[in-house]
Amino acid sequence: MEIHCVFIATFMLILHLVQAQDPTGFINVDCGLPPRESPYNALPTGLEYTSDAGLVNSGRLSRIAKGFEPDYTKPNLTLRYFPDGVRNCYNFNVTRDTNYLIKATFVYGNYDGLNVDPNFDLYLGPNLWTTVSSSETVEEIIHLTKSNSLQVCLVKKETTIPFINILELRPLRKNMYPDDIYDREWNTLFLEKSWAQVTTTLNVNATSEYELPQAVMSTGATPLNDKETLNVTWTVKSPTTMLYTYVHFTELQTLRANDTREFSVTLNEKNSYGPYSPIPLKTKTELVKMPDQCDGGTCLLQLLKTSKSTLPPLLNAIEAYAVIDFPQMDTNEDDVAGIKNVQDAYGLSKISWQGDPCVSKQFLWEGLNCINSDMSSPPTITYLDLSASGLSGIITHAIQNLTHLEILDLSNNNLTGEVPEFLADIKSLHVIVLSGNNLSGSVPPSLLQKKGLMLHVDNNPNLLCTTRSCVKKGHTKKSIIVPVVASIASLAVLIGAFVLFIVLRKKKASKVEGPQTSYMQASNGRPSQPAIMTKNRRFNYSEVVTMTNNFQRVLGKGGFGIVYHGFVNGTEQVAVKKLSHSSSQGYKQFKAEVELLLRIHHKNLVCLVGYCDEGQNLALIYEYMANGDLKEHISGTRNRFILNWGTRLKIVIESAQGLEYLHNGCKPPMVHRDVKTTNILLNEHFEAKLADFGLSRSFPIGETHVSTVVAGTPGYLDPEYYRTNWLTEKSDVYSFGIVLLEIITNRSVIDQTREKPHIAEWVGLMLTKGDITSIMDPSLNGDYMILVLFGKLLN
Ligand SMILES: *[C@@H]1O[C@H](CO)[C@@H](O)[C@H](O)[C@H]1NC(C)=O
Ligand SMILES: *[C@@H]1O[C@H](CO)[C@@H](O)[C@H](O)[C@H]1NC(C)=O
Ligand SMILES: *[C@@H]1O[C@H](CO)[C@@H](O)[C@H](O)[C@H]1NC(C)=O
Ligand SMILES: *[C@@H]1O[C@H](CO)[C@@H](O)[C@H](O)[C@H]1NC(C)=O
Ligand SMILES: *[C@@H]1O[C@H](CO)[C@@H](O)[C@H](O)[C@H]1NC(C)=O
Ligand SMILES: *[C@@H]1O[C@H](CO)[C@@H](O)[C@H](O)[C@H]1NC(C)=O
Ligand SMILES: *[C@@H]1O[C@H](CO)[C@@H](O)[C@H](O)[C@H]1NC(C)=O
Ligand SMILES: *[C@@H]1O[C@H](CO)[C@@H](O)[C@H](O)[C@H]1NC(C)=O
Repeated sequence: MEIHCVFIATFMLILHLVQAQDPTGFINVDCGLPPRESPYNALPTGLEYTSDAGLVNSGRLSRIAKGFEPDYTKPNLTLRYFPDGVRNCYNFNVTRDTNYLIKATFVYGNYDGLNVDPNFDLYLGPNLWTTVSSSETVEEIIHLTKSNSLQVCLVKKETTIPFINILELRPLRKNMYPDDIYDREWNTLFLEKSWAQVTTTLNVNATSEYELPQAVMSTGATPLNDKETLNVTWTVKSPTTMLYTYVHFTELQTLRANDTREFSVTLNEKNSYGPYSPIPLKTKTELVKMPDQCDGGTCLLQLLKTSKSTLPPLLNAIEAYAVIDFPQMDTNEDDVAGIKNVQDAYGLSKISWQGDPCVSKQFLWEGLNCINSDMSSPPTITYLDLSASGLSGIITHAIQNLTHLEILDLSNNNLTGEVPEFLADIKSLHVIVLSGNNLSGSVPPSLLQKKGLMLHVDNNPNLLCTTRSCVKKGHTKKSIIVPVVASIASLAVLIGAFVLFIVLRKKKASKVEGPQTSYMQASNGRPSQPAIMTKNRRFNYSEVVTMTNNFQRVLGKGGFGIVYHGFVNGTEQVAVKKLSHSSSQGYKQFKAEVELLLRIHHKNLVCLVGYCDEGQNLALIYEYMANGDLKEHISGTRNRFILNWGTRLKIVIESAQGLEYLHNGCKPPMVHRDVKTTNILLNEHFEAKLADFGLSRSFPIGETHVSTVVAGTPGYLDPEYYRTNWLTEKSDVYSFGIVLLEIITNRSVIDQTREKPHIAEWVGLMLTKGDITSIMDPSLNGDYMILVLFGKLLN
C-alpha cells in the first residue's frame, strides 16, 4: 500500500520537478483568481501562478467551500465556472510545432453548495480530450501544437456547470517524447501495484533526455519474493486504447563482485525487450517503440529475471501514454484570424463565439456556416450573418481576409461609411446583404458589375447608385422606376398596345371606391418590412400546427399547396403554405433555396419569414397579406368594392418594382416564372407584393392540371417559352403584360366564348377596330381619361 502511494506520487513529482528545472515558456494559471491577487508563487514549487483574466472571456469566479480549504492550498482554492453558453474556452499563445504537456485540475469542493459531482467534457481545440466526472481530477495530455494558438474548452454535457481550478502548460524539449506522426494526442495513466521498496540516499544522475527527477529515480521497487517476476498492471478506459510505455531504471544498490542484476521486460505477455542490467546511479530509459493495445483493457508489464541474474528485477519509474485520436482539423487559420478580427472590430461578445469557429458542428459559432469538403483539408467559413447585431462604424476591412465567404449578411445594423470595394475581390462571395443600415456614397461599380453576385442595399437612405443601370447611365436612385417600367414596356410587344393611350384619373368624385392611399404617398417608399423578423426562421412541424391552430383557416390555394392563416408569437399574423408532397420533387434543394429566399427583402416582394422542413412536412411561412390577391379585387369576388384606377396604377408600378428587383436587383437574376394576378398580393395598405417566386429549382411551377414539362399558368405563358422551353426574364415580362391587360380590362385571360379566346389577341382585335372604351373595365364607370397618342404600331 505504501509503495502504491510512492508510485503515484513519483509520477506526479516528475511533472513538478520538470517545471522547477526550466520554467521558460511555462504557463501556470490559477483559474478564478481575482486579478488583484495575481501573480503569486505557489508552494512547494515556487512557480509563479497568474490569474486567468484575459485568457477567457466568459465565466464567473468562485472558490471551494470553506470546509474543503484545509485539504487544499493555492492554486486549488479558487475556480472559474461557466453557467452561460455550451462551450467556453481558454485561449493560449503557444509555440507552433511544439509538444506541450497540458495539465488541467478540477477540484469541485462543493463551491456551489449543491454537492453534485461534475459531469462535463474537456476539449482541446475542436477535439474531445476527456470527460470530467469526479469531484477531484487532474487531467494531463501531451499535445503537439499545430499553430500559435491553443484552446482548452469546457463543454456542458447535461445540467452540471463546467468549472476549472488550474491550467498548466509546459513546452517539452524536442524529442523528449516521440513526435506523433499521426497527429494523435497522448494522455497519462496511473498505476496500481505493491512491491518491496528500494531507496538510496546517494545522488542519481538523472540527466537523461527524459529529465527524470532525483526523487523519482532514487526510489525503486523489486518483487517481494526474490524469485518472482515484477508484475505491473493497470487498466485503461477502453480496450482499444493504444499505449506508448516508457520504463526507467537505475541501479540503487551497491552490488558485490559476484552479484548480477539482469532482467527482460515484456508487455502484455507478447513483446519482450532486453535483457537489461541497470547502471549504478545512472538513468536508463526503455521505450516500447510501437504503441500497443492491452487485451481487455488491462495492461501487464512484467520484469523477468534472467537465468544468470542473482538479484531480482528493479524498476524505478514507468510512464504510459494513451493515444487519443483527434480526427477534427482546426478551421483554416486565416479564416480564424479573419473572423477574430471581425469580432474585435465590432466588439462582439457572443457567448458561442469561443473556441474553434467551425468545429465541431454542434459548437458552430452563431451566425456562421462552414464548409468541410474533405477531412484532409481544414474547414473554411462560407457564411457570415451579423444581421441585427447592433454593429456600428464602417464595414470592417477584416472581412476581406475571409476569403472563402459565400454569403455575407450585415443587414439591419447601424453601419455607416461607404460600401467597400474589397467585397468585389472576395471571389466566392455571391450574396451580400447590406439592407437596413446607414451606408452612404455610391455602390462601387465593381460590385454592381460582378457576375453572379446578389447584392441587397435597400433601406440605406443615403446610399446612391445602387443598380447596374446607374453605372452605365450615371443616374441616381430616383430614376430607377422609370427605366424599369420603360424597359419592361419596350421588351414586350404586347405592351406596345398600351403606349397607345395614357389613361388619367378623373378628378370628379366617383362611386368607385378604393383605399385611401394615393400613388404619390405610396411612392415615398415607407419601409414596409414585416414586423415578424424572428431570428430562428426554422420552425418545427409542431410549431406550424400550433401557429395555424391545426390548419383551421384556409386563406387560399397557391402554387405548391394550400395556404393557411396563422399567428407567430401569438399576435403576428402569417400565411402558412403547407407544401403538398406531390409538388416536392426537388426536395433536396428546398432548404438551400429557402435559405436564399429568406435573405431577399424588397417592399414589393412577399417576405418569407420562416419555413418548416421536417421529414415529409414542408411549409413556408410568409408575411400575412391582409387584402388577398389582385384578381379578387379586380373581379370583385372579394367584396363589392372595385379598385379605382389610381390604385390599379399604383399596384402596377409596385408589382413592376418587385419584378425589377428579381430581375436586376438580385444577382444572379431570378425569373419569377409565374407572374399572374393571383400572385400579386395586397397588404392592409393595399401595397402590392409579388408572391410565389424563387422555388423554381425545387418545385415545378403551375397548377396541377398543367403539364409539368412547361411551367407557368396557361394564358400568361410567353409563346416563345412554349417554343424554346428556354426561360428568361422576358417570359416574366410577357406575363406581366397579360397582368396589365387584366387590370385594364377585367376580362378572363382565356375565354373560349370570345371572338378571340386569348386576352392579348382580343385586345389586339378591339384596338384594330378602334374600340378603346370596350376594352376598359366597365366597372370603372368611365372614371379615367383616354389620351390617344398614336396608333402606329398596330396599323
Ligand atoms: C490540488 O488538487 C489536486 C487534485 O485533487 C491534487 O492532486 C493536488 O495535490 C492539489 N494541490 C494543491 C496545492 O492543493
Ligand atoms: C497573444 O498574442 C497576441 C498577439 O499576437 C496578443 O495580442 C495577445 O494579447 C496575446 N494573448 C495573451 C493571453 O498573451
Ligand atoms: C550524468 O550523465 C551525463 C550523460 O549521461 C553526463 O554527461 C554527466 O556528466 C553525468 N553527471 C554526473 C554528475 O555524473
Ligand atoms: C506475475 O505474473 C506471472 C505470470 O503472469 C505469475 O506467474 C506470477 O505469479 C505473478 N507474480 C506476482 C507477484 O503476482
Ligand atoms: C558472493 O560472494 C559473497 C562474499 O563476497 C559470498 O558470501 C556469497 O555466498 C557469494 N554468492 C554466490 C551466489 O556465490
Ligand atoms: C442605431 O443607433 C441608434 C442610436 O445611435 C439606436 O437608437 C438604434 O437602435 C440603432 N439601430 C440598430 C439597428 O442597432
Ligand atoms: C489580413 O491578413 C493578413 C495576414 O494574413 C494581415 O497582415 C492583415 O493585417 C489582415 N488584414 C486585416 C484587415 O485584418
Ligand atoms: C446616417 O448618417 C448620416 C451621415 O452620413 C447622419 O447625418 C444621419 O443622422 C444618420 N442617420 C441615422 C438614422 O443614424
